[in-house]
Amino acid sequence: MAANKKLQQLLAQPFNAEASPQINVDEAGELHASLVEILNDHSYRYYVLDDPVLPDADYDQLFRQLQDLEAVFPQLLFDDSPTQRVGGQALERFESVTHRLPMLSLDNAFNNDELRAFDQRLKDRLKLAEADNIRYVCEPKLDGVAVSISYENGVLKQAATRGDGSSGEDVTENVKTINTVPLRLRGDDYPAILEVRGEIYIAHEGFEQMNQRAEENDEKAFVNPRNAAAGSLRQLDPKITAQRPLVMCVYSTGYVQESAGKDEAGAAQRFIADDHYSSIQRLASWGFYTNPEVKKLDSIDKAIGYVDQLTEKRSTLDYDIDGIVFKVNDFAMQTELGFVARAPRWAIAYKFPAEEAVTRIHNIEWQVGRTGALTPVAKLEPVFVGGVTVSNATLHNFDEIQRLDVRKGDAVVVRRAGDVIPQVARVILEERSKGARRVKAPIQCPVCQSAVERLEDEAVMRCSGGLVCSAQLKEAIKHFVSRKAMDIDGLGDKIVDQLVEEKLVTTVADLYRLTLDDLAGLERLAEKSAGNLIAALESSKASTLPKFIFALGIREVGETTAKNLARHFGSLPAIIDAALHHGDEASEQSEALINVDDVGPIVANHLQIFFNSEHNRKVIAQLQAAGVGWEDIAVDAQQDMPLAGQTWVLTGTLETLTRDQAKQQLEAQGAKVAGSVSKKTHCVVAGSNAGSKLTKAESLGIEVIDEQTFIERFANS
Ligand code: IVH
Repeated sequence: MAANKKLQQLLAQPFNAEASPQINVDEAGELHASLVEILNDHSYRYYVLDDPVLPDADYDQLFRQLQDLEAVFPQLLFDDSPTQRVGGQALERFESVTHRLPMLSLDNAFNNDELRAFDQRLKDRLKLAEADNIRYVCEPKLDGVAVSISYENGVLKQAATRGDGSSGEDVTENVKTINTVPLRLRGDDYPAILEVRGEIYIAHEGFEQMNQRAEENDEKAFVNPRNAAAGSLRQLDPKITAQRPLVMCVYSTGYVQESAGKDEAGAAQRFIADDHYSSIQRLASWGFYTNPEVKKLDSIDKAIGYVDQLTEKRSTLDYDIDGIVFKVNDFAMQTELGFVARAPRWAIAYKFPAEEAVTRIHNIEWQVGRTGALTPVAKLEPVFVGGVTVSNATLHNFDEIQRLDVRKGDAVVVRRAGDVIPQVARVILEERSKGARRVKAPIQCPVCQSAVERLEDEAVMRCSGGLVCSAQLKEAIKHFVSRKAMDIDGLGDKIVDQLVEEKLVTTVADLYRLTLDDLAGLERLAEKSAGNLIAALESSKASTLPKFIFALGIREVGETTAKNLARHFGSLPAIIDAALHHGDEASEQSEALINVDDVGPIVANHLQIFFNSEHNRKVIAQLQAAGVGWEDIAVDAQQDMPLAGQTWVLTGTLETLTRDQAKQQLEAQGAKVAGSVSKKTHCVVAGSNAGSKLTKAESLGIEVIDEQTFIERFANS
């Protein structure tokens, strides 16, 4: 039946659970397929093409029919049904997802000279003649959140945030609520596995509506569309995300596998066409929203001309962009150019100049950080710059104050680029009042009055008060409860400040002694939230060793170092033991810390100082006595892993993965990654231009695989 006739029929004789109970499963299946097709089609026209043809009321009526039908025949309800966009069950937490191919970043260019230098570098590398031109695709650099979405046989399977580029968070349920994201691809010529990459953002109109609603509900306004988009995507309850006007714009592919088999046709790749522009067109044909400003330009001159055009157009666009991405169009050229570290050689982001505004400094305050570092902050007459109202700007450290010669009361130029913290760019000296006095270096902590220390070779000044200083204590607690540490929901900054000020908490262990009574007197904490907070504290007790180590807030021990320490030593007593014996030449443990990835003499020293403190060891014991715990990591747990006991070597230039990513993948499977080839080496992954390690491996008869094979092996593992 012609599509339109079918539509008219469905509208005229809607399925009604009470009136048409006689329908059988086959008929229901057919009806379901028709409704899904029509709804998908219209949603595509409405959201992606911005060309609706069906009145909203008709769409809603068909949608209700589909809901009713699925209620009667639940066997017809699949994940990719349009009814699933409203958001399912709330999650406890986001799972981590390892990207099959890393999500890279881009190098920046700030002016035309840098763009021309980029073009020249590529020409040199590609050995092109001066007269030859590289063809570029230029596209707006959307200011949102990067995500990767994978489809299997045309059906959306998983969506993940970029995270650190190697792994991100599983935000599938949230992404499925976004109307510009197809749940099922259009057409039938898509690859068996297709990963698309793009940006999720909120357009200006949607952003204004969100803030209007926030105001009506007496909630805090969102700072800018980017933060609003990031916050909306990170909701544990997809029903909240479903109400946010998120848009997904696709700009490239990730991992692609043409057919399901592992034969040649099924080989992993990242291309779906011969060039980037055609690949964007193919993506659009499958129902993705792609940016209408994407242009193919025949030379760097034309591409630079486009920068001027888009710069002019920028203020009329309904979404924020912070630059223009230049990509070499031809995929063969892209492959030849390859990647450096975390960015492709074949692309660059032209960044719009930072925005500046003039304002006045009311005061210069010293903020005390978690490790006692004192940071001068300029308190400003609020000024609108780069899309937000700014009332604080960092002055970094005392050297910077001297360099700028900034003084209280000065008129200054404040600069803000992208998401970067606002900076004081320069002082307008002509406007300085006569009495303005130089800023003096603090000799006492502004919070606890302890002496301020400054090591000779450090720019940073520090309060020597340690946890006696309430500012350091507050920051230490905020770090301890943060998401990547103990992940205690509901302990916002304001609550932590009050807990410390009211002396309800003097160490992180005190948190676990809090009662409903203690919390009752706090401002901004309703009874229900207090109950939730106690529950969150309780559930945070089941932690992991890496998270706990990170939570302790040891100087320079970030998430990665904490993980490495946990994996290396397996238990907290083993780490403490190594820290206490660090540098003790009489002990076998003298070098133990230094043998951990990422730990050098400075970090080892911080670990030693931290665990040498009786106070710190007592707090740890109190935390454990309160029930905080984790499973030790059996150092030999790696035995069960597929590559346990194997030593691998990476050599040459990898094109798709960074060294670190390849290493992480290997280690995740239990392999050790060594720097040189020996008889003990199990396998060598050789990128391009591999030299002596490859020769040695070959002479020793060791297995050598290329990057492509490596990726396939791991993608299928
Ligand atoms: S391409 C290997 N295209 O910019 C190339 N990125 O610094 C990777 N972005 O995290 C990205 N608009 O979130 C590309 N049209 C566009 C983009 C874009 C925004 C963001 C993206 C990425 C960051 C790279």
